[in-house]
Amino acid sequence: MKVKVGVFGAARGLNMINVMSQHPDAELVAICDKYEPLLERSRKAVGEKGGKLTCYTDFESFFHHDMDAVVLANYANEHALFAARLLRSGRHVISEVLPVETLAQAVDLVEAVEASGKIYAYAENYCYFMATQEMKYLYRQGEIGEFMHGEGEYVHDCESIWPDITYGEKNHWRNNMYSTFYCTHSMGPLVTITGTRPVRVVGFETPPVENMMRNGYKGGTSGMILAQMSNGATVKSLHGNLKREPGSIWYSIYGRKGMMESDRWGEGVNRIHVFREGDQLTGHDVSYSPRRRFAAKLAYMSEGHGGGDFYTMHFFLEKILGRPDGQESIDVYQALDMGLPGPLAYRSILGDNVPIEVPDFRDKGIREKYRNDHLSTSPATPAEYRLPNCSFPAPEIPDSTYDEVRRIWLEKQNMKPV
Ligand SMILES: NC(=O)c1ccc[n+]([C@@H]2O[C@H](COP(=O)([O-])OP(=O)(O)OC[C@H]3O[C@@H](n4cnc5c(N)ncnc54)[C@H](O)[C@@H]3O)[C@@H](O)[C@H]2O)c1
Repeated sequence: MKVKVGVFGAARGLNMINVMSQHPDAELVAICDKYEPLLERSRKAVGEKGGKLTCYTDFESFFHHDMDAVVLANYANEHALFAARLLRSGRHVISEVLPVETLAQAVDLVEAVEASGKIYAYAENYCYFMATQEMKYLYRQGEIGEFMHGEGEYVHDCESIWPDITYGEKNHWRNNMYSTFYCTHSMGPLVTITGTRPVRVVGFETPPVENMMRNGYKGGTSGMILAQMSNGATVKSLHGNLKREPGSIWYSIYGRKGMMESDRWGEGVNRIHVFREGDQLTGHDVSYSPRRRFAAKLAYMSEGHGGGDFYTMHFFLEKILGRPDGQESIDVYQALDMGLPGPLAYRSILGDNVPIEVPDFRDKGIREKYRNDHLSTSPATPAEYRLPNCSFPAPEIPDSTYDEVRRIWLEKQNMKPV
């Protein structure tokens, strides 16, 4: 049986469209994006491989298409709203990052998953790099002993691509997010490798910088989350627009008898270094490029994000089909373990860095407290729940800035027709 799949959002969504249109267990049937050139681009990409699909510009029409599962690659702050609705309509859902915008959405999402009995998967592709998959394997084998401290970094200076990814839209989620929102690329792998969850977070941010304000971004430049994990380990998760080329995607895990980390420069997440304490306390260390442990032959179909883009989709399909490798897919509770530190660390930042408890929504008893918690920086948020974009004096960005970014984007479009 093939799973009939639809993809919502065809910008980043093109990667998923590529995987799903080639995967032997999937039949890509429909896609939706209000921006028609992206539909054309996808239709062409799928057509070249002999496939056909129905394209929609309007979500309501897409929603009624006959499909078993939907990939959400729409706006990062709107995933949960669409996910809950699709789950309740009997579809399996896989969501791009981030899982939720608000705590209230988190409660609703968990309840939609539980009530529907359908599969929810979180497409945190950074959990499926060669390095992060291997570190999970080694950790679960007990190679470095119990988790003591971990660090995750996703430093990506997006200044040069900001016009391409925000198109000069004043209300685009990227322009209105706060420093710690986009936290799961750095936090997620630490959760997935060790199986622990953050129980308490403290946040810090750096001030807005001129080069990002010139592009329309109002938030702090980088966000740092410090967390205490469920087993007592400590974590530092750092992400943002700091200056570094190439960007830093880096993970390090200390255990009671050793440590392991990905490569900081050279091969990055394609290599790991491992230290294991020896019996005589002399120790030994190794460094190697891990091999794929899952579906290696199929994985060559998509090298996007070091193979991570393939595995998010593959494990989702495996889970729907009830196969054992489906357990590698990230469920809704773990998605929230990775995602809730973002909004909660921001409350810590706004509250002079006070520690904030991270609720575990596996426990039904604590959901009530958050059911009407709509706090957010999004412009669509009602005034009573609206948070400032930054803990430093908020930059005033004139509309002319967005006009200029849009002009740059349009100029690039003409140079590179989609
Ligand atoms: N995991 C990764 O490595 C990675 C990389 C880039 C982006 N992302 C995620 O992918 C998602 C999409 O990001 P993006 O870079 O494509 O930019 P984006 O958020 O600007 O694009 C979203 C796309 O969805 C479409 N869309 C949104 N709402 C719609 C609606 N109601 N009806 C029709 N179309 C709609 C938009 O037209 C746009 O093309 C985000 O959640 C982002 O966090 C993840």
